[in-house]
Parts: sequence; structure tokens; C-alpha cells
Amino acid sequence: MNVEVFLTGQHIEDEDVRDRTVVVIDVLRTSTTIAAALSNGARYVVPTSDLDDAGKIASGLDPASYCLGGERSGVKIEGYNFGNSPLEYDRAAVAGKTLILTTTNGTPAIRRARHAAHLVVAGFVNAGLATRFIREKGLDTIIVCAGWRNRVSLEDTLCAGRILNELWQGAEPAGSTDTSHIAFTLYRHEKDDVAAAVRRSRHAKRLVSMGLAEDVEYCASENTLGVLPAYGDRRLVPHDFIDEKAFA
Ligand code: MLT
Repeated sequence: MNVEVFLTGQHIEDEDVRDRTVVVIDVLRTSTTIAAALSNGARYVVPTSDLDDAGKIASGLDPASYCLGGERSGVKIEGYNFGNSPLEYDRAAVAGKTLILTTTNGTPAIRRARHAAHLVVAGFVNAGLATRFIREKGLDTIIVCAGWRNRVSLEDTLCAGRILNELWQGAEPAGSTDTSHIAFTLYRHEKDDVAAAVRRSRHAKRLVSMGLAEDVEYCASENTLGVLPAYGDRRLVPHDFIDEKAFA
């Protein structure tokens, strides 16, 4: 099983992901928001590429059945129910509802990877489940770091390294790719205080300046949500590991 890391999520072609497992990471905050919404009972999360896409999907649904969430440059979109803080998506807000979500980098990256054999969404909050999923599928894997507007983000790369460290049980295989080596090495350097490393990232500092320090702490927490969002039929739902075991 080969694992490649894409350090940004802007340029994903269908041939990159076909027949592969793909893990999309956007620690601050899309991956964490999606896992939190599903953990709190959202029926589905529909990731969209842009506001037009979100509007088209919403127009076909009963207004009482969905909520609109998202941000541009971290700021809640005017007229939407919620922004992109995972802490907004509590049970009262989303239980039983479809969440239509559009974000600056995370949801477009998910949509670009939609033709993968298997597509899941990970952050620090569910990184261990992502590692388990990769191992159980046993396919060549692409870990996509959403980044920020085609720039590398420290927190996404660090999370990719955490997944690789667990997958490889701390021993990097010979022949690992350059970007997998970068992510793995970064994690090995920062693993004793992941939250501190996340706090020093450019996007974390941007969020703190917006009064969203609590979001940063929540997004940096490790294995705190028992949900791995899995993509199929244009939406994300919790992956059911139990079914997998039953039919293995
Ligand atoms: C993104 O999509 O890049 C982020 O999730 C933006 C944010 O919510 O801060």
C-alpha cells in the first residue's frame, strides 16, 4: 500500500484518486465541523464547491429539513444559518437535518476528490479512525491536505503526519514519497505537543484574531470524536466500521 500526501487541495485530478482511498484533511476547521455535525446527529453533510452549488441544492429541499453553513476567509456567509465553527453544530442545531456546507478550501477539496474509490474526511478529532480506515481498505492512498488558497498549511500537514506515524507504527518505510516524508518528519518533531504546533499556524492565528481561539483548541484535540465522515451519493455520512467487520 503506497501513501502519497498532497500538500494542498487545489489540483486533484480524477486519475489521481480513481481506485484509491482518499483522506481529505482540513483541521481548521472544515473536517472538524463535518465530524462534529455528524456526531451530533446531522442526517447528512453535503459539501459544495461554491455558493451557487449550495443554493441549487437548498432549492430542491424542504426548508425545514436543512441548514446552510459555511464561511469565506473564516467569516460566516451572510444569510447562512451557521459559519464554520464546529462548536456551532450542536445537537439542537443539526439533529435530523441535512447540512449544506461550503467553505474556502475544505469542501472544494472534497468535491475535487469525489471520484475516489473511498473518500473520507479527517482532522485531529478523528485521525485514529482515518488510520484504521486506510489500513482496512488496504488500497494505495492519497492524503489530501486542503491547505489555504493553494498554500501549504502547517496543521493539515501535521495531521497527515500523525496518520502516517500511526499507519507506519513510527517507522517510515524505505521509498516513502517526498511529501509523505515531510509530513511524517514534521509530526515526529511536534508530536509531544500537537496543540502547541497547531496554535502557531498562520490560520490558527487568523482565527484567534477573530475571537475564535476556542475553535482552535477544539480542532487540535485528538481522537475526541468517534465519527469518520465517508463520502457517497454526493453527501457525507458516518462510516460504519461495524458493517465492514461483519462482512469482512
Ligand atoms: C477552509 O475551508 O479553509 C477552512 O475550514 C476555513 C475556516 O473555516 O476557517
